[in-house]
Amino acid sequence: NTAYLNGEFLPLAEARVPVMDRGFLFGDGVYEVIPVYSRRPFRLAEHLRRLAASLAAIRLEVPLADAEWTHIIERIVAAAEFQDQSVYLQVTRGPMAVRNHAFPAVATPTVFVMTEPLVTPPAELREHGIAAVSAADNRWHRCDIKATSLLANCLLRQRAVDHGCAETVLFRDGFLIEGAASNIFAVKDGVLLAPIKNHLMLPGITYDVVLELAAQHGLPTQVRDVLEDEARNADELWMTSSTKEVLPIVMLDDRKVGAGGTPGPAFKQMYGWYQQFK
Ligand code: PDD
Repeated sequence: NTAYLNGEFLPLAEARVPVMDRGFLFGDGVYEVIPVYSRRPFRLAEHLRRLAASLAAIRLEVPLADAEWTHIIERIVAAAEFQDQSVYLQVTRGPMAVRNHAFPAVATPTVFVMTEPLVTPPAELREHGIAAVSAADNRWHRCDIKATSLLANCLLRQRAVDHGCAETVLFRDGFLIEGAASNIFAVKDGVLLAPIKNHLMLPGITYDVVLELAAQHGLPTQVRDVLEDEARNADELWMTSSTKEVLPIVMLDDRKVGAGGTPGPAFKQMYGWYQQFK
């Protein structure tokens, strides 16, 4: 499994980063996860655009041009023995001489890319749906940055696992935000409800795809603040991410979503459109 680290291609197992790297000591970095279908990166330009936005937000320059990223990703993807992949890309502020929260005068970013097999959710999960728990969103106020400092997200996702669930749905001040590692949509009376992108949620690439597909196929959509109550009383809830695609949430906190507690008709349509499109 080939990886890329600071200008070199090498076996993943041999990739090493100094312990003084700010990514290691502070989680001072940003990342992307890009799905690859049959060795074809999906929505690469959009992922690179979001990476640039994350880097700008943490005051790091984009270390490589889009053409260079593309070349690196193509080479790693070609070298892998699996067809469907999940490319992981990370840029940290690099090493520091002494531990110091403030930035080094001159940062030398650590640039890392690897690939793993993409295991999309089994048919079972789509047919029966997944269960989720809810939690108050206790993360910071810059969740629009795809930061590697994911402690809160890890604790929130583990909370779901501890309850035998697949995801934690986050609410803040009475509003639906997103999942621990996904965006969340609601469907009510045939209308798709999507929380407006702001600094409290990650602007998901899959989120954008879902909204585009809804527009293309004439599914009525409202992009607006979604109340916690609306989410809890929705006919359908979906989670979306690059690795999970679109999944139906059929239980939230031991309560059925919608009447049936089964995947709804809008989900089935959207899933079909997504598979056709990807
Ligand atoms: N996570 N919100 C959060 C907090 C996320 O971590 C993710 C994705 C998303 C969905 O974004 P996208 O559709 O661009 O994948 C929303 C990735 C997959 C991860 O951390 O592994």
